[in-house]
Amino acid sequence: MYLGIDLGTSGVKALIIGDDQSIVASATADLAVARPETGWSEQNPADWITATRAAIVKLRVKKPAELAEVKGIGLSGQMHGATLLDNFDRVLRPCILWNDTRAHAEAAALDADPQFRALSGNIVFPGFTAPKLVWVKNHEPDVFANTAKVLLPKDYLRLWLTGEHVSEMSDASGTSWLDVGKRTWSPELLGASDMDLRQMPRLVEGSEASAGLRSKLADEWGMQPGTVVAGGAGDNAATAIGMGTVGEGAAFVSLGTSGVLFAANDAYRPNPGSAVHTFCHAVPDSWHQMGVILSATDTLNWFAVITGQSAAALTAELGDDLQAPQSIFLPYLSGERTPHNDAGIRGVLTGISHTTDRAAITASILQGIAFAFRDSLEALGAAGTTVERLVASGGGSRSVYWLRAIATALNVPVDIPAAGDVGAAFGAARLGMLASGGATLAACAMPDIERTVEPDADLLPAYEDAFQLYRRTYPAIRSTMK
Ligand code: XUL
Repeated sequence: MYLGIDLGTSGVKALIIGDDQSIVASATADLAVARPETGWSEQNPADWITATRAAIVKLRVKKPAELAEVKGIGLSGQMHGATLLDNFDRVLRPCILWNDTRAHAEAAALDADPQFRALSGNIVFPGFTAPKLVWVKNHEPDVFANTAKVLLPKDYLRLWLTGEHVSEMSDASGTSWLDVGKRTWSPELLGASDMDLRQMPRLVEGSEASAGLRSKLADEWGMQPGTVVAGGAGDNAATAIGMGTVGEGAAFVSLGTSGVLFAANDAYRPNPGSAVHTFCHAVPDSWHQMGVILSATDTLNWFAVITGQSAAALTAELGDDLQAPQSIFLPYLSGERTPHNDAGIRGVLTGISHTTDRAAITASILQGIAFAFRDSLEALGAAGTTVERLVASGGGSRSVYWLRAIATALNVPVDIPAAGDVGAAFGAARLGMLASGGATLAACAMPDIERTVEPDADLLPAYEDAFQLYRRTYPAIRSTMK
């Protein structure tokens, strides 16, 4: 048995798999996001512990014998968050999350220093960790002065689980402090944000052991003290491990709070100019590229709240057959990363008329997110990666309409995995299996495909025309925003 824990933005999921990788049990616990000011997004690390404990206790109630047999644990988590600890590992302030854009000016200043793109291989995006620390230095100097360690969210969970400060390559890639090609912390990049190596956790590969489970927690859950905790991965690389996205060109599209178009690479091929992310994968000698859009299901959930419907009811109202584009929607509710790197841009709906009803707006929202993925596909293309088909993942992939919009906007088939939970928590469990010697990388196979959603051939030309309009809308509205 192996245990995967995914610390997401909206909740924690814990999942047990057997030696044959079948899912034995899973449990979740919700998390809330605080938005105290426009553009801010925070969580209290103590809430992550409460939620993780609640999810594991639920597993213990359901499957105590199987939990007792766990031989390896893997961690996955929302990326980029800055968890600041003092010398006694006390949390100094709420964690500033991946979708917090308050540090946009600090990010632009770091990004203007050429060594960041050269060594980290990426734009310094406002949501990345380094600019957050510069923001804290500028606005909360006492907190900055007391910061003895900076941990990413899942690495804070690891500290609680094992008592050790450790990170791994995939998540560390999103800090702007890692030399992503060499897979080591960069003293130069740390120094350029007034930080140093002592504030960083030790690094392992995602599929290696990082530390062992503390006896106190092992006793509480009826598990073995010292159970191996794998390095684990940022949630996107963990999803890739879960979906078997490990060889050159294998790719998935993820419809979670954020939207991600992810492709695995056998070599390090950075191209910050196209706003693509180039990060280490969770296994040695492997990298990946991804386009990241900040609001995917987040956008649909926003519309669900204002219409008083559930997101599922909104998508069900459309049926499965794709509609011709009517209006153009830009899903930039909290700014955008790929392809614009623009924290100040906001969403817009153009071309509405008396006939535009709720369903038509839902269709435009799904289409707008599909076009955002098309932008990411082109960004990956500019970085030398060709995507020929995609596997769908994340909660939004339950909408066949949405997947058809994506297949048509990108003109690639989208595969739907057969029933099964092959996301980030499953990938984390697989990393637990690799780190404890229970399997080799060959065990990270792709899921069985239940159905393939093909591009809608009749609507390809209309979608192409609408995409060109979508493209022209961003520069047109840019000057109307702050
Ligand atoms: C990736 C990113 C998001 C978060 C979501 O760069 O910011 O996908 O990892 O949890």
